[in-house]
Amino acid sequence: MKKRSVIDVLDLSVEELDQLVATANDIIAHPDDYAHACDRKKLATLFYEPSTRTRMSFEAAMYELGGHVISMAGANSSSAAKGESVADTAKTVSCYTDIIAIRHPKEGAALVAANNASIPVINAGDGGHCHPTQTLADLLTIYREKNTFSGLTIGVCGDLKFGRTVHSLLNAMSRYPDNKFVLISPEELKVPSYVKQDALKSKGLPYEQTTDLEEAMPKLDILYMTRVQRERFFNEEDYLRLKDSYILTPEKLHNAKADLSILHPLPRVNEISVAIDDDPRACYFKQVLNGKFMRMSLILKLLKEAGTL
Ligand code: NCD
Repeated sequence: MKKRSVIDVLDLSVEELDQLVATANDIIAHPDDYAHACDRKKLATLFYEPSTRTRMSFEAAMYELGGHVISMAGANSSSAAKGESVADTAKTVSCYTDIIAIRHPKEGAALVAANNASIPVINAGDGGHCHPTQTLADLLTIYREKNTFSGLTIGVCGDLKFGRTVHSLLNAMSRYPDNKFVLISPEELKVPSYVKQDALKSKGLPYEQTTDLEEAMPKLDILYMTRVQRERFFNEEDYLRLKDSYILTPEKLHNAKADLSILHPLPRVNEISVAIDDDPRACYFKQVLNGKFMRMSLILKLLKEAGTL
C-alpha cells in the first residue's frame, strides 16, 4: 500500500471524481453504514490561515466516520511561531495521526507537507493556487442540482486571479465533455494565464472573458460567485477599488435561467445580496453541507489506499 496525497484536483482522475461523488451520495443515503468506518483513526488539521467551513467540515467529516481529530492551534500559538518549517511539522504530525488536512498562505506549502509526511496529506487551500476539496463540494452540488457534469455553461465571477477555488473548479469541469465557460471579472482580476492555458486553451475548450455579468447571465446554467480576496492584494487601495465590482441582487437575475444554480464557496462579503438566499436557485448553503460529505468520501478513499483501513 502506498500513501497518496491530494494537493491539486488534477491528482484525482475523472473516474475517481465520479467515484467520490457516488460514495458521498451513498453516505447521504446511508449515514449509519459509515458511522464506524474510521473508528480509532485520527485526522490532524493544520490551518495556518483563517477558515470556518473547510476546517469544521473536515472535523465534522472525521467525527461522522467515527474517527478523532487533533488540531494544531493557530500558526501564532504553535511551533510555527518559533520558526518551525512546514516539512518538520508534517513529519511530527505523522507520528500522531493517520491523515492531515493543511491550509497555508503560501502556494506549494501543502506539497511540501505531502513530500515530508509519512501519511496522506490533503490540501485545504494553498495561497492563491488551488483548493481541491472545495471543488469536491462544488462537484457534488452541481451533480445534485443538474444530475450531470456535462453540457453546462458555467460562469465564474469575481476575483478569478486570486480565487483558488475557481482555479480548481476550472481544472475539474474542463475535464468533462461539452462544457462552456464564461469568465467574468474586472480586467485586473482575470484568471491567471497558466490556469487558462492548462484548463481551457490546451484542450481547445470554448470560453469567453467579459466584465459584464448581466450580459452573460441568460446563458448560464451555473453561476459561481466569489469574493475579492483582500488578503492577497499588495495594497489596500486596489482592494477598495475592486471589492464591489459584482454584487448579485434579485434584479440582476431578471434574465437568468429558471434553473440557474448559484454557487459560492463562501465566505460571502457582499457579492450576493442576502435577498437571494431564499431564491430556490441559491445553492451555497447546500454546498457547505455537501463539502462535509465529500470530505468524508475523500478521507475514506485515502485511508483505504494507504492501508490504514
Ligand atoms: C474559500 C477559500 O478559502 O479559498 N473558502 C472556503 O474554503 N470555502 C473561498 C474564499 O475564502 O473566498
